[in-house]
Amino acid sequence: MKAAPHTMELQIEGRRNLADLPFSKHDFKIIAQMVKEYAGIDLHESKSSLVYSRLAKRIRALALPSFEKYCQAVRTDVDERHQMVSMLTTNVTSFFREAHHFEHLKSKILAPIVPAARRGEKIRIWSAACSSGQEPYSIALTVLSILPEAPSLDVRILATDLNADVVNKGRAAVYDRQEASAIPPALKSKWTSPCTVRDEPSFQISDEARSLVSFRELNLMQGWPMRGLFHAIFCRNVVIYFDRETQCKIWQRMASLLPVGGALYIGHSERISGPASSLLSPDGITAFRKIEVDSA
Ligand SMILES: C[S@@+](CC[C@H](N)C(=O)[O-])C[C@H]1O[C@@H](n2cnc3c(N)ncnc32)[C@H](O)[C@@H]1O
Repeated sequence: MKAAPHTMELQIEGRRNLADLPFSKHDFKIIAQMVKEYAGIDLHESKSSLVYSRLAKRIRALALPSFEKYCQAVRTDVDERHQMVSMLTTNVTSFFREAHHFEHLKSKILAPIVPAARRGEKIRIWSAACSSGQEPYSIALTVLSILPEAPSLDVRILATDLNADVVNKGRAAVYDRQEASAIPPALKSKWTSPCTVRDEPSFQISDEARSLVSFRELNLMQGWPMRGLFHAIFCRNVVIYFDRETQCKIWQRMASLLPVGGALYIGHSERISGPASSLLSPDGITAFRKIEVDSA
């Protein structure tokens, strides 16, 4: 039996006009189901106020009278479903987050292949779930710190995320003073330039660093069109939102895109699980290297 609609009025303080937009437990369940199917993200019931506050504005903009009607619209409209899921993602990120990963990348992955890169061999790195670009640009600045001529070599960083808004912010490559303060000063002065956005002092990532990064929209739950292997993959602070079975599949797919010795970096509260565990050996804090497995 369908649950009786109730408003979230009591749970969201300081907001007005909520009574006009009914949101039932059943609506939450339908939304959570669609989000899980589409993006792998598990939404616990405790997130219902967040779902309400993020979607209410959109529902009003569409001039729909209730969450129920919105759920009906989302069911049949793939673009709207994509937009809904994007509005429910958590995009928290920062430059050089978990700095030990960038030190590992530099000393263990990049340093040994720099001579080959200078002879024209390729370097490929993937920032999966890159959010607004701080992660792939931290990778780019790490590359430039050891290989300043990278823009004229075959070096590419692929940066992907499900959410078009954050991908666009990444492409724009402009960060406010607070965001940019996490860039180590020597890299910041060399590879960014000050600018002003709506009277706010900001920083633009240099053309050299930007030229290394290609941004694309990509849902990790769908097909991955990339061909070829990556020397390193950053998949951090995203699978934490997925259930265990989905995590296992993602790790296995990532492992298949690494050569022996390639690195996978994961978030501080994430764990490698499932069959990929036998292919990925720990090599530092939440860093893993693909190992040779004896198939005999
Ligand atoms: C918390 S941010 C992590 C950003 C960055 N990797 C870091 O660690 O700082 C999680 C990102 O995962 C993205 N995301 C969530 N589900 C996704 C999916 N199914 N496919 C691709 N990206 C997804 C979100 O849009 C969000 O930008």
